Order: sequence, then C-alpha cells, then structure tokens
Amino acid sequence: MFDKTYTKELTKRRTFAIISHPDAGKTTITEKMLFFGKAIHISGVIKGRGNQKYAKSDWMNIEKARGISVTTSVMQFTYKNILINLLDTPGHQDFSEDTYRILTAVDCCLVIIDAAKGIEERTKKLIEVTRIQNTPIITFINKLDRDSREPISLLDEIEKELTMNCVPITWPISCGKNFQGVYHLYEKKIYFYKNKLVKKQSFFLDDFTDFSNSVFLKKMIGSDLYEYIYQELELIIHIYSKFNHKNFLQAIDTPIFFGSALGEFGIDHILNSLINWAPSPLYRKSNKRQVNPQEKKFTGFIFKIQANMDLKHRDRIAFMRIVSGQYKKGMKLKHIRIKKYITISDAFSFLAGERISIKEAYPGDIIGLHNHGTIKIGDTFTEGEDLKFIGIPIFAPEIFRQICLQNPLKQKQLKKGLIELSEEGTIQVFRPIMNNYCILGAIGILQFDVVIERLKIEYNIDAIYKKVNIILARWIRFKNDHSINDFKKKYSSYIAYDTNNSLIYLAPSVANLHIVMTQNTDIFFDKIRE
Ligand code: G4P
Repeated sequence: MFDKTYTKELTKRRTFAIISHPDAGKTTITEKMLFFGKAIHISGVIKGRGNQKYAKSDWMNIEKARGISVTTSVMQFTYKNILINLLDTPGHQDFSEDTYRILTAVDCCLVIIDAAKGIEERTKKLIEVTRIQNTPIITFINKLDRDSREPISLLDEIEKELTMNCVPITWPISCGKNFQGVYHLYEKKIYFYKNKLVKKQSFFLDDFTDFSNSVFLKKMIGSDLYEYIYQELELIIHIYSKFNHKNFLQAIDTPIFFGSALGEFGIDHILNSLINWAPSPLYRKSNKRQVNPQEKKFTGFIFKIQANMDLKHRDRIAFMRIVSGQYKKGMKLKHIRIKKYITISDAFSFLAGERISIKEAYPGDIIGLHNHGTIKIGDTFTEGEDLKFIGIPIFAPEIFRQICLQNPLKQKQLKKGLIELSEEGTIQVFRPIMNNYCILGAIGILQFDVVIERLKIEYNIDAIYKKVNIILARWIRFKNDHSINDFKKKYSSYIAYDTNNSLIYLAPSVANLHIVMTQNTDIFFDKIRE
C-alpha cells in the first residue's frame, strides 16, 4: 500500500512543455509563468531584454553569437500548491530532434499561437509528434494586443491542422488597439485588459441581456463592440462543444485561451487550466509492461544529455524523467543497458540554468544526474527490475557531411569527441563499412556548426566538413538473418554502422532508395530507431 505522502506528492505534480513556432511568445510566457509561480522575481531572467539577452542559456558561444537557444532546461515552480515541471525546448528548428525527445518526457503540452499568424510550420510539425503519444494539448492564442486574425478563422485552422476539436474557454473582445480583454465562458466573467476606467480587473457577467450590466459594459467598451461581441458569443456557444475533461485527456479536444503574454494577460487562465485539468504524472510503456507512477519501486528514463550547463564544471548532465517510485539521495539504481548498479550520490533540479542539489523527487519530476560517459539517451534505470522504457525515438538524419581533421594526428580525440557528442544526441555519427572516415548526420544545419565549435572548445580539435553525396538514411533490419551478408556485399558502398552498431543505408537519391527498397522486400528500412 502507498503512504499518503507519496500519493499527495503524485497528485500535486504536473509536467509539461511549451511548443510554438519561433517568435510566437514561448520565452515571454515561460518568463511570466515563472513570475506568477514566484520562481523569479524580476521578469527578464529567462531571456533578458536588451543587454541581458540570453541570460539563461549563454552556455555556448554559438548561442550568443546567433541569438538562438540551442539548449534545453527544466524549470520547477509552484502555483497554487501544485508543483509544475516545465520543460523548455530549443527555439530553433534545427534542433527539433531534441524537442521530439523532450516531448516523450511530458504529460501535457501548451501550444502557443501568434494571433496574427495562426498555425505556423514548426508548430504543425511539433504537434504531429505530440499526436503520436496522444498528449493532451492546451492552446493559447497570443499577442491579442496586436491586430489579429478573426478568432473563428483561427479556430477553424487549428481544428484542421491539429485534427482536434477546439473548445474556447475564453473569448477575446476585439484586438490590437481596441483589445478590451476576454470573456471567460465558464466563469462568466469579463477580464479587462489594462482598462484604466475599470477599477476591478474582472467583471461578473452572467447574462449579456441583463440591463444594468449591459449599460455599464456599453459605456466601458462602446455600444457597437458590445453588440458585436454579444452576437459573436451567442454564435460560438452554439458552434463549439462544451469542455469535457475526458476528451481533453484523450487529446480529442483542446481548450482555447486568448491573451497577451507581453501584457501579462491570460497567463493565470492557462496556469489554472494546467493545475485543474492537466494530468498528474502518467504511466510509461516499457518492453515488458506498463509502468504506473503509483508503483513504489523507482524507475526512470533518460531523454536528454546536456554538456556544459555550467562552464565552470565542464560536465555532462543526463536528464531523467521519473516514472515511478521516489528518488532518495544516495540510492542504488540498476543501469539496465550496462547491467550494473550505480549509487546516485547527487541529483539536481534546475531553475533557468541554476542547479540545485535535491534529496528526494517523485514521478513527473526531471532530475539531472552527473554523466561520466556511461549514460546514453534512452537508458532506463530501475531498482532492479529488468525492463526498458520504449518510445524515445532517434530520427533518421536529413543532412550529411564528412568530417575531416586539420591535424590528422588528432584522430583519437576526434573519435572520443564524436562518440560523446552523439551520445548527447547533438549529432549522429556513421562509419561506412568500406571506408575509414566518419559521416555526420543531422536534422538541422546548425547542428554541424555546434559540433565544430564544441570540438574546438572542449576537445581542442580543428575540423572541417566536406560535402557528401547522401541525401537520405534508413536503418536496416533483416526479416531473415541469412540475407544480411548478401545485402552488405551488394550495397557495401552505401552501408554504414551507427554508434549503436546498427546498420544504416545512406542513399544518394530518393530514386536509389526506392529501387533498393523494391528489390529487397525482405528488409525493413526504418525512418525512426528506438
Ligand atoms: P519565442 O520564445 O517563441 O521565440 O518568442 P518570444 O517570447 O521571444 O517573443 C518574440 C517577440 O514577440 C518578442 O519581441 C516579444 O516581446 C514579443 N511578444 C511576445 N508576446 C507578445 C504579446 O503578447 N504581444 C506583443 N505585442 N508582443 C509579444 P522582440 O521584439 O522580438 O524581442 P524583445 O526585444 O521584446 O525581447
């Protein structure tokens, strides 16, 4: 039986990530949420404005130079007694592989949409990933203080692109210079946006036809706008379904909120929805069985490895999502892949780059472990049970380069550096079976720049890239073992090993891959590897 404290700790946790297209307002919202959660005292710590820009993640020169966020951090804060784990995701699309893996560690996602732009390309791609796992989604339509698209047309687009039903929880009263606030359809309240005439920031309005209320409101927002919003609300109440918690948890419906992150407006509405509706820590699937957070024995998996979080320490931290049981400082855990017990003498939690040593942690929490080269992405830790969590994907790279040393005597260091960087998921490394050199594979071009920069700074290696004639890669799995050698012989110049010693086919063209696939129907060509 579980003790009460354990159950209480479980029910008070929420673990989520914010996803959006760059510039939709993810950083601003993160910052405001931390502010509401009193985790920071001045807005601006996450991505300070002006001179302080990139205060959070100045871990790498490349981030500073290009003004992008390469790395990911985890933030923990409390809001109304609920402990929230917020996983930040890299802002730049070239690091989307990292984001995909982070999404395996959360139980809910907040999608931010720019009200003037609607669903943008990156949001669409990220949402597709959340759909694989049916992660519940809360949607926030941001920047209503600017001219925006018609809310109904935005919702039409969301329904089409997300393949989810929209359930408006708040509804905007105009936008841009005329933005008055939102009507909360369930609280039956108008929340005013910076209206100097209104003393209270919210106004209870059960019925728009109520005479005294309508006189007051007409004065506040103008008769025309009043008539317009009254009619619009009548319409939307009929066209959109009512909020249904079960449908939200099953990712059939997404609740919709409107606001302005910059104006700090609507943030409390999303925080309330997170604490009231988002699931407490969920189960995860393993190769043997489903592991439930209520189980007392500790289990967890690694979804990210981060180097140089603190340049003073020059270390690598493995991020673990706790699936079940309680972490206690000094506990012994079995590292399933290497079949060894490890004593965890120190684990960290994080706040905007700051690490805090922790004594205990529960399911849903993300803890950081020191990694001395033994931990890889996807590794499982348990108190002894031999199981492996599944569903932490590696995606086939889409861009390829051959890496060449400026000083050929540094071969050994290069090998070490590349292995370590590939274990972190920074880059994928392939050894062609016919050659001695290394091919690097990435999803985004900036990943290559990060590798060159890090090889130089951390391993003292000068390297450059050569273009290679590869445009697609697929991992190969054989239905019958006897076909392996024939296939390897026939296509030797296109086959390589990855760092996991899995075989991968590196195709020079789409047509080439197509022909090989049609000629070898007894082989699987996989786009994703577990
Ligand atoms: P991101 O992390 O999703 O990339 O977006 P971020 O929060 O950095 O916001 C992108 C830009 O949009 C920023 O302006 C930010 O101030 C602005 N922004 C965010 N939310 C709102 C909002 O509700 N209303 C308005 N009007 N603007 C908003 P910037 O000029 O690019 O950067 P900065 O100089 O303000 O940091």
